Amino acid sequence: MDTARIEEVVGDFVHLKKRGTSLIGNCPFHGEKTPSFHVSVTKGIYKCFGCGKGGDSVRFIMDHEKYSYPEALKFLANKYNIEVEETELTPQDAEAQSAKESLYIVSQYASAFFVKQLWETEEGKGIGLSYFKERGFREDILKKFEVGYSPDVWDAMTQSAINAGHNLEFLEATGLSIKNDNGKIYDRFRGRVMFPIHNFTGRIIGFGGRTLKTDKNVPKYVNSPESEIYHKSNVLYGLFHAKKAIRDTDNCYLAEGYADVLSVHQAGIENVVASSGTSLTVEQIKLIGRFTQNVTILFDGDAAGIKASLRGLDMILEEGLNVKIVSFPDGHDPDSYMHHVGAGAFKTYLEQNRKDFILYKANVLLKDAGDDPIKRAGIIRDIVESIAKIPDQIKASVFIRECSSLLEIEERILLTELNKMRSAKSKKTFESNQRANHSSNNSYSSGAPEPLGPPDNLWDDQAGPGEVQQTSAEDHQEKEVVRLLLAYGHEFVNWDSIDDMYIGSFIMQNLADVDFENSLCKKIVDYYKSEIDNGRLPTANHFIKNEDRDIADLAITLSTSEYALSENWLNKHQIYVKDESMHLKATILGGIFHLKKHKVDKILSNLLREIKEEKDADNQIILMQRYGVIKGVEREISKFLGSVVVK
Ligand code: UTP
Ligand code: MN
Repeated sequence: MDTARIEEVVGDFVHLKKRGTSLIGNCPFHGEKTPSFHVSVTKGIYKCFGCGKGGDSVRFIMDHEKYSYPEALKFLANKYNIEVEETELTPQDAEAQSAKESLYIVSQYASAFFVKQLWETEEGKGIGLSYFKERGFREDILKKFEVGYSPDVWDAMTQSAINAGHNLEFLEATGLSIKNDNGKIYDRFRGRVMFPIHNFTGRIIGFGGRTLKTDKNVPKYVNSPESEIYHKSNVLYGLFHAKKAIRDTDNCYLAEGYADVLSVHQAGIENVVASSGTSLTVEQIKLIGRFTQNVTILFDGDAAGIKASLRGLDMILEEGLNVKIVSFPDGHDPDSYMHHVGAGAFKTYLEQNRKDFILYKANVLLKDAGDDPIKRAGIIRDIVESIAKIPDQIKASVFIRECSSLLEIEERILLTELNKMRSAKSKKTFESNQRANHSSNNSYSSGAPEPLGPPDNLWDDQAGPGEVQQTSAEDHQEKEVVRLLLAYGHEFVNWDSIDDMYIGSFIMQNLADVDFENSLCKKIVDYYKSEIDNGRLPTANHFIKNEDRDIADLAITLSTSEYALSENWLNKHQIYVKDESMHLKATILGGIFHLKKHKVDKILSNLLREIKEEKDADNQIILMQRYGVIKGVEREISKFLGSVVVK
C-alpha cells in the first residue's frame, strides 16, 4: 500500500494537474469537461466531487479495470515488481486453487495447440485458414481472437497435451478430452475451427468449435461444457477484447455469435460482445453494467425471430440499462452484413440505425396488429409492461409521452396503466423486503414514518404511530461525529480546564452513553472505543483503507467532505469559507451536543408515546416524572448549544 502511490497509480490513467495541495483531473468514471476529480497525495486517496467515486489505489484499480480485490492487488504488485506469495491458504484451499489453476493451464495449452494447427499445418492451413479467408476475415483479427483449428483426428490434442506433461484429469475436467464407456480417450473438438472463450481478465476458460462440414446431422457448434473455470451464464464472448472500448464509447454492442463479434471488430468497432447461443442471463447484463449503462442489440434474423426475442430484453431494462436496437435488412446478421457492405458502410449503418428499444418494440408490434382493436389493446399492455420495468421514473415518463403519440393514446391512460403495474410490482417487492428485513434493524431506508413532533404536543392526539424511527437529521449528526473523529481525532484538546487529551478520546468519553443507529457509524465508533480502551488511537487511514467496503466508502466520503478542502480554497483562491479548524472547540462540542440533543429528543418522544398508551394512572405519573427530568437535560443541552456553540 505504501509503494502503490495514489498519484502514480491514478496518473497512469488520468492526466493530473497540481492544484494547491491536491492534484486534479478529469474523472475517468464519468464524462466531464471541467475537472472535479481530486487526488490527495498525503491521504493516499482520490475522490470525484462530480460522481462521488472515491477510494485508495487498490479501489481505483478495482473500479477502473473492473477487477476484484485480489486481482487489483496482483495488478499493483506487478506494476511495482512486488512478488505476491500466497502463503495463507489452507492445504485444501491450496489444492482447490491449484486444481483450478491447472484447468486454466490446460485450456491455454489447448488453445496454443489449435492456433499452431491453424497456421502451421497443411490440414490447418488448407481447411481451417482457407475457410476463414473465404469468409473474408483478416489475419490480424484471427490472431487477436486466437482462433485455431482442431485436426480431424481421434485424439490429436489429448495426446499432444499428455506428451507435454499435462494431466488427463484436468483435460477431462475442462471437457477438452472425453473418456468413453470403454475407457478410450478422445478429443471433444475434431475437424473444427476453434474460438477460445476468455474471461474478462483474458484467461482462456472454454471453447466453441464450428464444423466445416455441410452435413445437417453434424451440430454446427460444439462448445466446452460448464467447468470449475467456465460458468456460461456469467461469461460474454469477446468481453476481454471489448472492455476498454465499451468504457471509452460508453456503449456495448450485443450480438449473437462468435462470427459476429469478429466481423464487427474487423469493421473497427471494438465494443462488441456476444451471448454465444445461450439466451441472455441477468448475470451477463450485470457484467455489461459494470462497464456501461448503454446496450445496443444487434438483431439478426427475420421479423418473427425479432418478435420472439423482444420480451427477453425487458430484463435489461429491469437492470436499469438503456437499450437500443439495430436490425439488419434482408435477413442479414451483423457478420454477413459487414462483409456484404464493407467496414465503412457498416459503421455508418450502425450509427444511423440505432433505435430506442421501447419505440422499436411499439413499432414492430403496431405493424403486426394493423387495425385490429383487440390486438392494439394487447400492445398497449405489452409496451407499458416494458416501461414499468424501468427503475428510473423520469426516464419512464418520457417513454410514456413518446408512446402516447406513437400509439395515439392519451398519456393519461398509459400512465394509469403504468401506475397499476407499478403498484402491483411494488406490493410484491415490499412483501419480500418485509420478510428479508425482519431481522435487520436498518429502519432508515424502509420508508420509515415521520418521527413524532416536538415535545410541546404532549396531549396532541395526532402523534405518529409506533416506534420512533431514525431520521435523516440523526443520521447526519452521527456521520458528523464520525467525520470529526476522523479529521481531528489526533489533535490535542487544549481548551479551558481540559488538556492533555486527544480529541478522539474526548469525543469518545463524551459519547460513551450514546447509541449509534447508523450501523456503519456504529461499527466505526465501536472500533474506535475499543482501541482507545486498549490505549491505542486509531488512524483515519484504518477506516479509509478498511477491508469492509462500506466502511471505507463512508470514511472516504466523510474525510473528503467540503470542509477538508476549505484550507485549500482559503489559501489559494482567497475565498473565505467557514473554517472549522479555527473554531475547533465549537466544532467538536457542537458535533457532540447536537447529537446528544437529538438522542434526548428521541427519548422524550418515546416517553410521550408511552405516557399516552399507559392506561394505569399511577404508572402514567411515574412516566411523566421521568419525562420532566429528561426534559431538564434537554434544556441544559439546548442552553449549552446556544451559549457555547456558534454553529
Ligand atoms: P449462429 O448460427 O448465428 O452462429 O449462432 P455464428 O457465430 O454466426 O456462426 P456462423 O456465422 O454460422 O459461422 C449464434 C451462436 O450460437 C451458438 C454459438 O455460440 C454461435 O456463435 N451456437 C449456434 C451453438 O452453441 N451451437 C450451435 O449449434 C449453433
Ligand atoms: Mn453467422
